[in-house]
Amino acid sequence: MLPQEIIKAKRDGKTLSPEQIAFFVQGITSGGVTEGQIAAFAMAVYFNGMVMPERVALTEAMMNSGNVLQWDHLNLDGPIVDKHSTGGVSDSVSLMLGPMVAACGGYVPMIAGRGLGHTGGTLDKFESIPGYNIQPDQDDFQRIVKEIGVAIIGQTARIAPADKRFYSIRDVTATVDSIPLITASILSKKLSAGLEALVMDVKTGNGAFMTDLEKSRALASSIVQVANGAGVNTSALITDMNQALGDTAGNATEMREAVEYLIGKRRNPRLHEVTMALCAQMLLRSGLATNTAEAESKLNDALDSGKAAEVFGKMVHALGGPADFVERYDHYLPKAPVIMPVYADAPGYVTQVATRELGLVVVSLGGGRTNPEDAVDHAVGLSQLASIGSYVDQDKPLAMIHARDEAAAAMAAVELKASIGLSENLPTLDPVVYEILT
Ligand code: URA
Repeated sequence: MLPQEIIKAKRDGKTLSPEQIAFFVQGITSGGVTEGQIAAFAMAVYFNGMVMPERVALTEAMMNSGNVLQWDHLNLDGPIVDKHSTGGVSDSVSLMLGPMVAACGGYVPMIAGRGLGHTGGTLDKFESIPGYNIQPDQDDFQRIVKEIGVAIIGQTARIAPADKRFYSIRDVTATVDSIPLITASILSKKLSAGLEALVMDVKTGNGAFMTDLEKSRALASSIVQVANGAGVNTSALITDMNQALGDTAGNATEMREAVEYLIGKRRNPRLHEVTMALCAQMLLRSGLATNTAEAESKLNDALDSGKAAEVFGKMVHALGGPADFVERYDHYLPKAPVIMPVYADAPGYVTQVATRELGLVVVSLGGGRTNPEDAVDHAVGLSQLASIGSYVDQDKPLAMIHARDEAAAAMAAVELKASIGLSENLPTLDPVVYEILT
């Protein structure tokens, strides 16, 4: 087999065999296929697409380019299940979801990512906890999942190395935006955790990777078909990202919101709806519940009994964080030197949020990164974000800004105000969960 023959077949709109795909992916990993050939292959797929069996073969070949976790020797007494989000602003769902599902009997080996661009990253949020180690070795990771039910850690170089090389070439050849390639890229990494069930949160809206519903639906449908084709019971939710999901954006700010959610101190209704819907799907897909009412009842018990908060605290401690983090989160989480409210120029209802720009306010405060190597300031961010439909005036701010200094706060205030649209009239509200695809 020659790489150029495989590229030619795809260029001419032919369907590739699993053997051809496995050969090409093997060449991506080993270096036997050149950068130019990978770019040409990506462009051929971009224009001619891939049928579902090709997408399954590409996903499996990329997953098998690295380590795939095995769990049999650990004799787990429940299903291995995870969730993945396409990313957004104020999307702290994973922080609560992992412990909630573990408290209901699932095992959640979550390999999470960092924030890039306007979106936040789960790992950065966990690194706001002093001592939390996002890179335990594989045996420790699996032991913690077995003992506690959940561990949330970072990706290692041994996970889907073919995707790492392939993605970096797609990134500079205008070929990221291809549904078959995105599907295989996301799933090859996610499925390498050895999952039995998976739930995807495909965000849609002006703060999402896919801004329109049609494309979000196509991605969700592709992921559901390919993951099920690879033997993992998978469903997808399409959820709204036309505004921040919760009350906060940033790292320590979102961590604080997550702990307060788990201990029942405050629960933003939109964040709660998405978290419950995703958790319920995880219980359904993994056989821990037979219908939505049963799933919700188990999840409410996990929250009300304090079990989910307890699991979260144990996970934090097992990964190097303080043993009393849940009890003393306010003491441990870093605080920004300047915390100030931002008020609208005139009172009114929030009708629109430019969500991407709102995420970029956090980046400009130092809470996100524009390059993968950038350091992140965990203390800065936003809290008390006004949601669409809420009324703001001289008493109720658009948000609180958490900044390193007065100048950064003043700049962020201008950007924040520009990202929020107001009107005298109450707007109609978008659904929080648009669709569930099974
Ligand atoms: N996220 C990924 O991991 N891969 C893609 O191709 C796009 C988004």
